[in-house]
Formats: sequence, C-alpha cells, structure tokens
Amino acid sequence: MSLNDEREKVLLEARTYYKNIKNKIKPFIPGETYIAPSGKVLDEDDLVNLIDASLDMWLTSGRYANEFEKEFARFLGIRYCSLVNSGSSANLIALSSLTSYKLGDRRLKPGDEVITVAVSFPTTIAPIIQNNLVPVFIDVELGTYNCDINQLENAVSDKTRAIFIAHTLGNPFNLDKVMELANKYNLWVIEDNCDALGARYHGKYTGTYGHIATFSFYPAHHITMGEGGAVITNDPELHKIILSFRDWGRDCWCSPGKDNTCGKRFSQQHGGLPFGYDHKYVYSHLGYNLKLTDMQAAVGLSQLKKLPEFIKKRQENFRILYNELKNLEEYFILPKATENSEPSWFGFPITIREKAPFNRNQLINYLEDNKIGTRLLFAGNIIKQPVFTNNDINYKVVGPLTNTNIIMERTFWIGVWPGMTEEMIKYITTKIKDISSL
Ligand SMILES: Cc1ncc(COP(=O)(O)O)c(C=O)c1O
Repeated sequence: MSLNDEREKVLLEARTYYKNIKNKIKPFIPGETYIAPSGKVLDEDDLVNLIDASLDMWLTSGRYANEFEKEFARFLGIRYCSLVNSGSSANLIALSSLTSYKLGDRRLKPGDEVITVAVSFPTTIAPIIQNNLVPVFIDVELGTYNCDINQLENAVSDKTRAIFIAHTLGNPFNLDKVMELANKYNLWVIEDNCDALGARYHGKYTGTYGHIATFSFYPAHHITMGEGGAVITNDPELHKIILSFRDWGRDCWCSPGKDNTCGKRFSQQHGGLPFGYDHKYVYSHLGYNLKLTDMQAAVGLSQLKKLPEFIKKRQENFRILYNELKNLEEYFILPKATENSEPSWFGFPITIREKAPFNRNQLINYLEDNKIGTRLLFAGNIIKQPVFTNNDINYKVVGPLTNTNIIMERTFWIGVWPGMTEEMIKYITTKIKDISSL
C-alpha cells in the first residue's frame, strides 16, 4: 500500500469514527440538557482535516495555514490575511504594528490617544495600555451596544491618533461616521471584528473598512480552530509589519521552511550590522511569536466552508428569539441592528428595564437554574474592573458613561450559535415569558 493509500485509510476510519460518535449524542431534553450560550459546531470534515495536518508532522504553520490565509482573504475580498494563535494576539499585533518606525510620522508614540469604548473585551483595551498609549473611553448606545457616534468627535484631541473598537456581538458600529472622522483627523482605524465575522455594513463585510481588522477563532466564535485568530489589511506595508510583529520582530517575511523570499538575503545594509548580514536574522521590531500550528489552520479551513450556513443559522436563531420576545419590551430593551447593517450575531443581548419585577441576578440565576446559559457583556465598564481600580492606568473618559454603567448593571446575553435548535430557543423564551408574568 502506498503512503497516500495509508493516509486515505486513516482518514476514512476517522470519518467513520466521527459519524458514529455523532449518532450517540443524546437528544435535547428541556430543563435537563444545558443550553450553552456559545459553542462550536464540528463535523467529520473537521476531524479529517485535523488528522490530515497531523499526519504531515509539519506541526508549525504550513500548507493549511497558507491555504486558510488565501481563502479567508478571498472570502472577505481583502488582500492580506495573517493567521495568529488567538483574537487577543491579533489585537496585540494590530495595535503594536501601528507603533512601527517604518510608518514614519504616522507611527503611534507613547502618550498618543486611542478612542475606544469601556464596554469591551479586555484584550481590545490591553494592547493600547501595553503599548504606552492612552485609551479614551466614550459611551455606547443601548440596543445596538455600539459606540455613541455623537460622542466620537468630542473625544478627539491633538493627541488622538487611532480608533480601536469592536463590532459588539456581531452588530456593526456606524462605520460611515467612524471612517468619516478618521479621514477628517487622519486617524488609524482598527476594527475588532472578533465577534462579527460575516457581518455587513452597506453590503460590505465589516473588517474591510478600517486599516486593520482582527478575528478570533476560539470555539465561541463564528468558526473555530480551538485557539486561533487573524489580522487582515489591504496595505502591503502594514502587512509586512504585521508579519514582523507576529514572527519574532524579524525584518524577513519568509514562511516557515523557506529562505530568501526577498531575493536579497545576503546583500543589504541593516542598521549597524555588517553589510550582507543574513536577512533571516535581522530584527526591526520588538516582536513576539504568535503563529499557530497547521492542525489549527486545517480545522479552520474546513470550518470556513461552512461559514455561510453558520452565519445564516445565527441570523435565523436571532430572528426567532426576537419574535418570541418582542411582546416583552415593557421589561426588556431588545437588541437593535445598526442602521445600514446586516449583523452576524454573536449573541442576543438583553437589557432589563428598571421597572421589571426582577433584577439581572434574579433573572440569570433563574435561567441558569433552568439549564439556560447566560453571559454578561464582557467587562461591562472596564474601568470598574479590579485591573483598573488596583493599578495606576493612564486613561481618559469623555462624557458620562451612562449607558456603559447601565450595561454593567442590567445587560446580559443568550446564545444564537448554530448548534441551537428552534426547540431550544422556544424553551428559553418560554422560561423568560414565565418569569415575566409571575
Ligand atoms: C471583541 C473581542 N475581541 C477579542 C477577543 C479575544 O479573542 P480570543 O479569545 O481568541 O483571544 C474576544 C473574545 O471573545 C472578543 O469578544
């Protein structure tokens, strides 16, 4: 038997194995089966790809990573995609890249200000502070949970150099206004698109408007690699800088196992090094190593094929939830898509109105007791988190964070992920209706 045939045999067995274990999954029993707020949907193709990549024994980023980067860029209609090992790493690289000396006067320098929101995931904010920049927090809207665009211009000072905001729970922020302001004041825009893969604004994918965008492929996200993330850009110079920060800070951009991609490996002058110093060992940034393995990329590639159907299912689940709950607006602020957008929902956020006969703790405990998973809107107001209250962090706040504080106190979300069925959703909404009519 040839090696290829041996491989095919292993893969065929893996496929059969997966089909068998899938048949053994217990059916949903309301009140007994836990309904997770997020999760991964895998199939035999994912297992086959994972094993195929492991049989290569290449282990680091390789053929699957290259193919994923190409296919992902093609899906989004963007020029460059760089895979990394998480959405947090993607955010770290995206922001760090803007500090590169290669950007000349446009580089971010310590003390420069970055406009963002306090209702955020911590690793959207952390890279700002880790790069000695100053986050400037503005408020968000209830319903869309995105930045309050009326506050945006008030946050601009002579030190403002960038805007770094997430599309909250898959709902795009107002990209028209953000890009207009960025153009007016010559600001960089990073879209944290970790929760919004497949969302559109004026029909075009979010993540393709700003200078750089980031993605997460953690299991809660639209597609998964277990751990994984990506940084995308249309700018060839930024792309090289992104690769440098990802790959140890090196100047060279050869893929693992390749040499002399630039064709000038031994014939350039770099810094104070002797002429012709091997380009592979020239470092232009204080970088990291945030690459991922080819096994992760292989799973991502088979997941990517299912992305359009995952997005549709998330949107459908959202619609069912919305229709079932729309009569309860007396007690709840229900989610609202941003104008001109088509969200790719990550979750279904609900804010409990003050007049409701229950508070958030009572409601989420009731839901969790009934096996319905809930989540808060990440850090709520990040400046109230222990990391901020116990450290001397340099930040600015523009305007009162009224809605941010409401979200911290009264908002939570439930799932819409593609593993959820209509039966599960109807069970969730029945429970919410039950407590609302007590
Ligand atoms: C908006 C946002 N940004 C960044 C991240 C970080 O992604 P990861 O968990 O892959 O590090 C998350 C995680 O869910 C997120 O929700």
